[in-house]
Amino acid sequence: MEIIIQATQQAANEVAARIVARLLHEKPNAVLGLATGSTPLGLYQALIGMNLDWSQVTTFNLDEYIGLPREHPQSYHSFMWENLFQHVNIAKENVHIPDGNAEDIPKFCAAYEDQIRTAGGIDLQVLGIGTDGHIGFNEPTSSLASRTRIKTLTQQTCKDNARFFGSEEAVPKHVITMGIGTIMEARQNLLLAFGDNKSSAIAEAVEGPITSINPASALQMHPLVKVCLDDPAASKLQRADYYRWVYDNKPAWQIF
Ligand code: F6R
Repeated sequence: MEIIIQATQQAANEVAARIVARLLHEKPNAVLGLATGSTPLGLYQALIGMNLDWSQVTTFNLDEYIGLPREHPQSYHSFMWENLFQHVNIAKENVHIPDGNAEDIPKFCAAYEDQIRTAGGIDLQVLGIGTDGHIGFNEPTSSLASRTRIKTLTQQTCKDNARFFGSEEAVPKHVITMGIGTIMEARQNLLLAFGDNKSSAIAEAVEGPITSINPASALQMHPLVKVCLDDPAASKLQRADYYRWVYDNKPAWQIF
């Protein structure tokens, strides 16, 4: 894992945006895995500001609530179009977001996995992290080999996401999410976390044991992961000074 700690969220987003932009320059038809929630908003704004060419890009989103109408303001369909897709020249047919209203959910999930495979696999997966360590909506004790499937949110996640829905009760309890096994097959993972409320989950994921209790810790087994943090999210990392030292002493060819 490469841990990149920046003083502010904005600075961390700028680094993350340069990582994504470099990929799109090197591979204009890249396949991106995308996340929703508060965390990637700054990254998406930075990418929009870069005026990149998205015409050949394909995207797969990590997750979606089950049972919310697609047009609901809090559906991840609405989120993605509002915060990214409508601002870039992506082709509508290249956008993939799980269908939370699929009649046959297991069948839909298997087909989603097939679509990712047919697209050639995900080149770069953007991830946020839950306060309980979830990535996608793979809640604690999710199988580290899991594939796209239905999951039930933890009460903690419902509490965390109540801010989007007005109340905890209004948060849908079920979701479709890519599995940890799916995420682990992305060629590169880019995990973002900001704020003190993510510091424990990040410390466990980066420096703790690999355990399904903190699903993000599975990323320790992935060959190419970059973790972009602001100072508060990095505040519980025991080796933070070393990670800063590594970043400050990168060979020129490794700098993005
Ligand atoms: C959303 C997703 C989740 C979020 C996580 C953090 O697509 O995959 O794992 O990244 O719940 O949410 P925020 O960013 O709102 O704190």
